[in-house]
Amino acid sequence: MENLFELKHVSCFFGKNDTVTKALEEVNLDILKEECISIIGPSGAGKSTLLNVLAGIIKPTTGVVLYKGKPMPDSISKRANIRLNEFGFIFQSYNLIPTLNVRDNIILPVVMNNEKVDLALYEKLISEINLSGHEKKKPNQLSGGLAQRVSIARALIKKPTVVFADEPTGNLDSVNGNAVFSLLFELAEKYRYTLIYVTHDKEKSNLAKRIITIKDGKLIES
Ligand SMILES: Nc1ncnc2c1ncn2[C@@H]1O[C@H](COP(=O)(O)OP(=O)(O)O)[C@@H](O)[C@H]1O
Ligand SMILES: [Mg+2]
Repeated sequence: MENLFELKHVSCFFGKNDTVTKALEEVNLDILKEECISIIGPSGAGKSTLLNVLAGIIKPTTGVVLYKGKPMPDSISKRANIRLNEFGFIFQSYNLIPTLNVRDNIILPVVMNNEKVDLALYEKLISEINLSGHEKKKPNQLSGGLAQRVSIARALIKKPTVVFADEPTGNLDSVNGNAVFSLLFELAEKYRYTLIYVTHDKEKSNLAKRIITIKDGKLIES
């Protein structure tokens, strides 16, 4: 399998002079296509920063990020295009649009890009993620577990190469949390996306074949 991401000597500093925070320090990391990876570490360790660097949301202070063998572009809009077309995101707080119903939330990434919705894929996701009967509901009518399943469908509607999830079950009870992870892994096999998720929960982290531990901005791979 080819490398999807290569991080070389990546450091990420916030603030300056005596108040500088080294969120990432000298990170070297290769990620293969279709790997499922968890990133674990205590609060403030740099997990979200690492995810955001991989996703092109944060440009590191120093070092190089290659995606599919090419440097992540400097241009903010070019990076945004890569995110829109190739990456799916799942957040701890779901980030659904409150005024849109479930259906419109799911197809939003497609509509935003002026593309035609792949209705067959939409229907398939509704059935695989068990969302039928909920499509007309607004986010405030959904339980947390259901809202996160909607956000999984939204992440997958553009057939992403990579799915990034930052503490995706941080707001869920264990039953709903486990259901979200079963779905993420089951669908990763079906749709062959690379799954990269952050958690501070050892049990959830152990679900991944490859586990990256981060402490004080430095990687320790087990
Ligand atoms: N935009 C920012 N500005 C200043 N400091 C930040 C910023 N983002 C993260 N940090 C700091 O960098 C460190 C790592 O943060 P983060 O990656 O969010 O950790 P984690 O996700 O592991 O809890 C923390 O000390 C945090 O306060
Ligand atoms: Mg975080």
